Amino acid sequence: MKKIIIILSSIVVIIFIILMIFLFNTNSKNKDIDNVKKKETTEKVKEKEDNEFSKLSYYKEENLDRYKAYQSNNSDLSIEDIVTRVNLNLDKNPYTDTIPSTNLNTNYLLVNKFNYLDSSYIPNNLELLDNSYAKSGIYLVKEAKDNIERLIGDAKSDGMNIRVISAYRSYTYQENLYNNYVKNDGVENADTYSARPGYSEHQTGLVVDVTKAYDDFNNFENTDEYNWMKENASNYGFILRYPKDKENITTYSFEAWHYRYVGAELAKKIKASNLTFDEYYTRYLDYESN
Ligand code: DAL
Ligand code: ZN
Repeated sequence: MKKIIIILSSIVVIIFIILMIFLFNTNSKNKDIDNVKKKETTEKVKEKEDNEFSKLSYYKEENLDRYKAYQSNNSDLSIEDIVTRVNLNLDKNPYTDTIPSTNLNTNYLLVNKFNYLDSSYIPNNLELLDNSYAKSGIYLVKEAKDNIERLIGDAKSDGMNIRVISAYRSYTYQENLYNNYVKNDGVENADTYSARPGYSEHQTGLVVDVTKAYDDFNNFENTDEYNWMKENASNYGFILRYPKDKENITTYSFEAWHYRYVGAELAKKIKASNLTFDEYYTRYLDYESN
């Protein structure tokens, strides 16, 4: 009996010792993992502090490697321009890694070759423009319509004759338009002046193409009406969307006739900043992804 008690006690002691060793090991392993994690976090924080891009409010940590790569290929650009352009995906080919546009039915809606509208998207509050301001059958979102009508009226008082020749275009309308351009001119050329369906700002209902009344829109750049628009359009909430010398950012050739409604407050700020809508958006309006 005594022997059995001794054996049992020994077994209990051995089990206890094994258990203690196991617990000690697990604990020190966890400590090691904790230390590695701590080190990694400290390194990340340090890298963030060290890198010159991170001081910008629109810096996105997940883009850091792309900023560095873009900088090495574009060493003449400022830090601001590098971060802005990479955030806009301009280090990628147009129409790759595209995402659905956010801010639907707002004046901040961004549509470009990386941000698209669903084929079913039709803006709210579309209204028909009066024939005295536009070609027949032209629709715009009400707020943009009210302001372009006011703009055209005031321009008339200054002796200017401005007329809207295109505004809201449905997905299907843009599809036919783009396909026709491709048929006649090839994809490469068409992509410099026409958006693919879903990627046209015209589908937002916030855009007007204007001309000097009854003149060819290709000649608009040479008219007093164009200069009047450049000077005054922002007071009515419109900005020139595809300016000259900004082709590498907008990815479209200069369009003297294409104006985008964003509301007067924002339009004046964008005009003063000398940035395109794409740049202004990624720096100051893209709250969701910041
Ligand atoms: N012409 C402009 C880029 C469009 O097709 O929407
Ligand atoms: Zn247009």
